[in-house]
Amino acid sequence: MARISRRQFNLGLAATGIATVGLTGCGISDAYGAATQQTWRHTEAGDLSPAQKRREIVRYGTLAANSHNTQPWTFAIEEDRIEIRPDFTRATPAVDPDDHHLFVSLGCAAENMVAAAPAFGMEAVPEVTPRDGETRVAVALGSGPTRRSPEFEAIPRRQCTRSEYDGTPLTASELRQLQAAAETPGVDAIILNAAQPISEVAEFVATGSDAQVRDPEFVAELKEWIRFSSAEALEKRDGLFSGCMGNPTIPPWLGRIVFDFVFTENAEREKNIKHVNSSSAVVVFTAKQNDRAHWVEVGRAYQRFALVATHLGLKHAFVNQPVEVPEVREQFASYLGIGDRRPDLVIRVGRAPEMPRSLRRSLDDVIV
Ligand SMILES: Cc1cc2nc3c(=O)[nH]c(=O)nc-3n(C[C@H](O)[C@H](O)[C@H](O)COP(=O)(O)O)c2cc1C
Repeated sequence: MARISRRQFNLGLAATGIATVGLTGCGISDAYGAATQQTWRHTEAGDLSPAQKRREIVRYGTLAANSHNTQPWTFAIEEDRIEIRPDFTRATPAVDPDDHHLFVSLGCAAENMVAAAPAFGMEAVPEVTPRDGETRVAVALGSGPTRRSPEFEAIPRRQCTRSEYDGTPLTASELRQLQAAAETPGVDAIILNAAQPISEVAEFVATGSDAQVRDPEFVAELKEWIRFSSAEALEKRDGLFSGCMGNPTIPPWLGRIVFDFVFTENAEREKNIKHVNSSSAVVVFTAKQNDRAHWVEVGRAYQRFALVATHLGLKHAFVNQPVEVPEVREQFASYLGIGDRRPDLVIRVGRAPEMPRSLRRSLDDVIV
């Protein structure tokens, strides 16, 4: 069978005009752009009632990173606490068979709420609790001084930027601030910022990616969460929008056919190696224990790190392939010298222009 390269695919689309007819920017509709502006905004605390403030804190929670943008959460709001509950109907068993990423995502949301609460004159303290036979994150709310921190200011500017970075090194001050941001009692962050270890991590990413591209269940699940057009992304308001990943936007029926031709081992390997090697640093988060409570802590550590990186004008993206394939994960742990500990997340950091943004479901869909 003839192979179509990503470049040929892009050129082919441009030639047919499919990617651009009636659209603006990188094949992204004006309506999509307007929806992202509405999503990624700040709210002034002003005259909001306590109930409105709690709702806003949840909204900031939903702006957190989350695996495949499944938004695997619901929020139960009470007067003095907000419970973040796992939504297992949005689990991704192929890439995340033990729900590790799902609980990390809950931690990401919790940390955004911690950063947002002081802007509304509140203090938020998350705690992982078993309740009704389920692990949940209870975020206790108390009153506190009103303050807008740099992390809070960064929430609507954070994004996962899945593009090539400019390769310039981090300054000593940036490194120090990133290390401090990632420090959490139950979680270590290993920052690799020399060319040699970065290129070694790139090889692990490529090896993990090879295994994933060969796994039909992984591919089918990924495809299910890709939103190929602005209209599809706007309708679902979740998932991975092609436009955010620098890919053309096309009718979903066509996207699902073409995907199989362009999502190949070689194309993914080439892209991942280029992306990782263009980064200023790679950060591996590893928790001291391998359980749900610690996975939530990993999410909190990542989210705080990401907000500080954003505040510093840096971009970042996940390259989790080495921790998602069990055999590669074992080899990666041994490469890192972390013994029996699980490497939880792999993040690359660097400098690059902003990419198109993702969407979130409405608050009415996630508040129970
Ligand atoms: C636990 C976890 C795992 C993730 N793994 C990956 C990954 O391997 N590759 C990737 O490109 N993005 C990954 N992401 C990023 C999400 O896809 C991203 O947060 C989501 O699409 C929303 O986009 P945004 O963060 O730019 O708002 C991961 C996020 C989380 C929280």
